[in-house]
Amino acid sequence: MTPHIEAKKEDVAATVIMPGDPLRAKFIAETYLDDYKLINNVRGMLGYTGTYKGKRVSVMGSGMGMPSIGIYSYELFKFYDVDTIIRVGSCGAYTNQLDLYDLILVTSSYSESNYAYKQSGNADHILYSDSELNKIIKKTANEKNIKIIEGVIHSSDVFYAEDNNYQELYDKYHCLGVEMESFALFHNAKQLNKQAACLLTVSDSLVTKEMTSSEERQSSFTSMIELALESL
Ligand code: HPA
Repeated sequence: MTPHIEAKKEDVAATVIMPGDPLRAKFIAETYLDDYKLINNVRGMLGYTGTYKGKRVSVMGSGMGMPSIGIYSYELFKFYDVDTIIRVGSCGAYTNQLDLYDLILVTSSYSESNYAYKQSGNADHILYSDSELNKIIKKTANEKNIKIIEGVIHSSDVFYAEDNNYQELYDKYHCLGVEMESFALFHNAKQLNKQAACLLTVSDSLVTKEMTSSEERQSSFTSMIELALESL
């Protein structure tokens, strides 16, 4: 047990699929997994372990923002011997080249966050997902005919920014959009010698101001979740 996870070590699989919303973790377990059981409910951060087409997998919420995913991913990697975390989340688009529901495979995260520096003295502001893991995800997407767009994402500490400089971040770092977790996840994986990847569905656009409803989001997440699970 850790301060935030009550699961027994042997009840956590080597690979964890991690949505932000714990209720989405519940939905994934109930919809896709066989023989699943609840392994965590501390602070309502639901986690389950089951099998998908015979492969053992855990699915657990990360909460929103880098401090939250920073805690859960660190504890899973360090104390539960998890090897691989695949984040499945949503993002806001920084370019009108992206449509709502497009699926992004994050190759790197740009962030102005202090998370990496505070955690380990790492002063980088661009951190990378695992290239081997990405190769598997790309191959799987190809086989399943799921369209993915690869690129850089902005990992932000602030949802409600007064001055949203998205055009600058797009021009300078080629950030396709914004979410709030991948930078801390990639950092923890690198620091602890583990693997992390991140798939994101476009849920809104900062350019066109379009938004998806929460019900629409639920169903649009299907191909992203299936891609993560099939990549197992
Ligand atoms: N900002 C930050 N995180 C997000 C957004 C956004 O617009 N959309 C989905 N995750």
